[in-house]
Amino acid sequence: MAVLKVLTYPDPFLKKNAQEVTVFNQELKELAADMADTMYDQSGLGLAAPQVGQGLRLFVADLTYRPNDPEHPRNWIAYVNPMIKKGEGEQFLEEGCLSVPEYRAEIKRFQNITIEYNDLEGNLKKVTAEGLFAVCIQHEMDHLAGKLFIDYLPPLKRKMIQKRLKKLAEE
Ligand code: NI
Repeated sequence: MAVLKVLTYPDPFLKKNAQEVTVFNQELKELAADMADTMYDQSGLGLAAPQVGQGLRLFVADLTYRPNDPEHPRNWIAYVNPMIKKGEGEQFLEEGCLSVPEYRAEIKRFQNITIEYNDLEGNLKKVTAEGLFAVCIQHEMDHLAGKLFIDYLPPLKRKMIQKRLKKLAEE
């Protein structure tokens, strides 16, 4: 178990498409466990493999996590090769991202989604999510397609934020 380095904008790796996972071995389980450690270490709700420099269609999430309660049990789940089967309604929630330091923004997302994914053993699973859970899944799935939440912002605002993030990364 280990806390991994999280890549931040403008790291070019964050723009890459992740690859389908085809081998469900011990290495994959260890990567997922390390990603969970990293997510808790940085008080995140979710973390996608490309954020730690691994180009795999994998993310971890724990919507029950309470950053202010270190005794709270950890209930993270790994989602491998997730596919959206259904998306309905819309919602705007404020999002942040461990790869986009210091910024949060309201982004339009589906209110309800159903996804299919593999667990770490390779079994096919299905889950329906709404509200914050649905937002988290959509946000993490974007990472697998090389997309960040700031990519949804209007061009002028996005450029301003990107400029400041680039400065921040140079410091
Ligand atoms: Ni993110």
